[in-house]
Amino acid sequence: MSEILLSQLAHVELLSPRPDETVRWMKDVFGLEETTREGQSVYLRGWAEWLHSSLIVTESDQPGVGRIGWRTYGPEDPETIAKRLDGTDEAVGWVDDWPGHGATFQYRAPEGRHLHEVFWEVDRYEAPEDRKDPCIKNRPQRYPGRGIGARYLDHVTVPTPNMRADIDFYTRLGARHTAQTEVEPGFSVFSTLTCNGIRSTHDLALVPDFSGMTGRAHHIAFRVDQRLDVERAAEQFLAHDTPIEFGPGVHGIDEITYLYVREPGGFRMEINAGGWVNTMPDWETTTYDAAGGNPGQSLYRNVDAPAGFHDAWPLPPTGAAERERDTIASDRLRPFYGSTAGSGR
Ligand SMILES: [Fe+2]
Repeated sequence: MSEILLSQLAHVELLSPRPDETVRWMKDVFGLEETTREGQSVYLRGWAEWLHSSLIVTESDQPGVGRIGWRTYGPEDPETIAKRLDGTDEAVGWVDDWPGHGATFQYRAPEGRHLHEVFWEVDRYEAPEDRKDPCIKNRPQRYPGRGIGARYLDHVTVPTPNMRADIDFYTRLGARHTAQTEVEPGFSVFSTLTCNGIRSTHDLALVPDFSGMTGRAHHIAFRVDQRLDVERAAEQFLAHDTPIEFGPGVHGIDEITYLYVREPGGFRMEINAGGWVNTMPDWETTTYDAAGGNPGQSLYRNVDAPAGFHDAWPLPPTGAAERERDTIASDRLRPFYGSTAGSGR
């Protein structure tokens, strides 16, 4: 019998030292919709998303990512995952009072220590009458036509000090490891995973963390429909003085059209479209060789990411930052990191 435990990446909590500006930007420029506010958090969703919230902005000293939420495939699955992790260092426990979802089991990845949570019961978004789409019932609301109109949460990318151990952990909980780039056999520097059988590219990506820190995050990605929408988003970002870090361009491994910007809190956000379709439940991980360049970076092999594109948050203290920079600039890793080895700070 096949087993699918998770149905989708449901939400990511973005930590922001400038929460008011981050939320305003997420609504006016990124085009998200506000659901509710509670405590130090504001709950937002893409206009076409049926769940209560997909981005939770929470005030914090430094940018970063907090909770990473996954909806399970069925009502028994949170318990299955809890039992599977019972008594391990990864298990955190049950919580049941979060806005937007019911009984929730939390756990941490063994090495990256990122906080994940799984749940089945969800609050569905219910639009007021004047915002319901009069024709298209598959839409939870009318297209709002604001900012870049980010439509769905797509993926989150996080660094980990031990790629292999965390990949093994995530695959034990139902993820498929779809692709990786190695600088040498067994040394992965980029990996994509997806939690279900119909995902086009990935909902979780891992990159290595050479700083000695854990729990850091590289970016959160949302999706629009068309490649042209990404180019239009670039115009919107320019018009709103949002710093564009990288793109628009097309990645090689997943073939998504990407664009990376920095939101007002300093964190990196991606907007993307397209990508190849992977419907193969028995897909075996594709391994790319980093020798001769970074195959994931550019489909056309003609663009390098800018200096500092490896930066992740929270930023490391001085000593750890130097260790990370030296490692990335080493002969062993230069083929992969290339011009990104410098600091963007
Ligand atoms: Fe991404």
